[in-house]
Amino acid sequence: MERKRIVSGMRPTGSLHLGHVHGALINWRSLQKDYQCFYFIADWHALTSEYEHPEIIKESTRDIIIDWIAIGLNPEESVFFIQSSIKEHAELHLIFSMITPLPWLERNPTYKEQLSEMAQKNLYTYGFLGYPVLQAADILMYKANGVPVGEDQSPHVELTREIARRFNYFYSNVFPLPETLLTPEAKILGIDRRKMSNSYNNAIFISESKEIVTKKVADMITDPQRARKSDPGRPDFCNVFTFHELYTDKEMLKEIDEGCRKASIGCVDCKKMMASNLNKALEPIREKRSELKANLKIVDNIIDEGNKKARKIAKNTMKEVREVVKI
Ligand code: TRP
Ligand code: SF4
Repeated sequence: MERKRIVSGMRPTGSLHLGHVHGALINWRSLQKDYQCFYFIADWHALTSEYEHPEIIKESTRDIIIDWIAIGLNPEESVFFIQSSIKEHAELHLIFSMITPLPWLERNPTYKEQLSEMAQKNLYTYGFLGYPVLQAADILMYKANGVPVGEDQSPHVELTREIARRFNYFYSNVFPLPETLLTPEAKILGIDRRKMSNSYNNAIFISESKEIVTKKVADMITDPQRARKSDPGRPDFCNVFTFHELYTDKEMLKEIDEGCRKASIGCVDCKKMMASNLNKALEPIREKRSELKANLKIVDNIIDEGNKKARKIAKNTMKEVREVVKI
């Protein structure tokens, strides 16, 4: 039997950090076992917010794909492509925009939230309001059965289903309704204990050197109630400990947990251990990254191949769509 298909995308607005790793990529990697995966760079989506300074989009696009491969997404199993290389997405977006009632977009909670969160950018544009319509085109183009995304994106998948339902009702049953495959949010926070994000300047990046990672870990905010080394700490309230849970073996983890509670280990040493384990885990990823950086032809080939596979499906879908829309 054909494996079910999933589609997911990432906006190229900067380098990938550990929030992306634990909030998306590890999940993407394990989904490759059971699904036919289409992973793409949503560069047109990035343009909805970066239109004043679009340079970052091109700069980060290839870099992100390098990170994907370095982290273990497999271009032989999955299809990697670039949204703007498949012009059919724009045509499907246009057609969907004809049938999408405005109130569906205006009441979208993610839209309202982002408008107020990114108040420094002017997001009162036609394109930004239509963001989920473009997303619906990305997903339905490949007739995806599932979409792995975080909680913040689930209203968009819901809208995608509504658009598909409306299209199928008006014209013909072309699109399956995709399910949301919810990815739990990354537990780790940024070094300042806020959500890890490029825009907060608190992220640890996949591409960073051992020295910078160690320095950032040393700067991390720990249990805010542990002011002195003699104060007992609370690992459950410490972001450093959350990192230990991901990167440190069970035995050592237990020692750290007890040592922190009894104030027998200090934060400085605790962080040193964590940084060392984190660096150990990142080392093979860094190696793979620099290998790919030195062989950009390989990366470009992977992208070309992925684009070809995606384009083939997109062409078929659009043929079907034009037929039933009679245009
Ligand atoms: N909006 C998604 C995000 O910001 C990115 C995205 C664009 C996407 N198109 C998609 C995700 C299609 C899943 C499927 O994370
Ligand atoms: Fe956090 Fe480690 Fe300090 Fe405990 S000892 S508060 S776990 S950094």
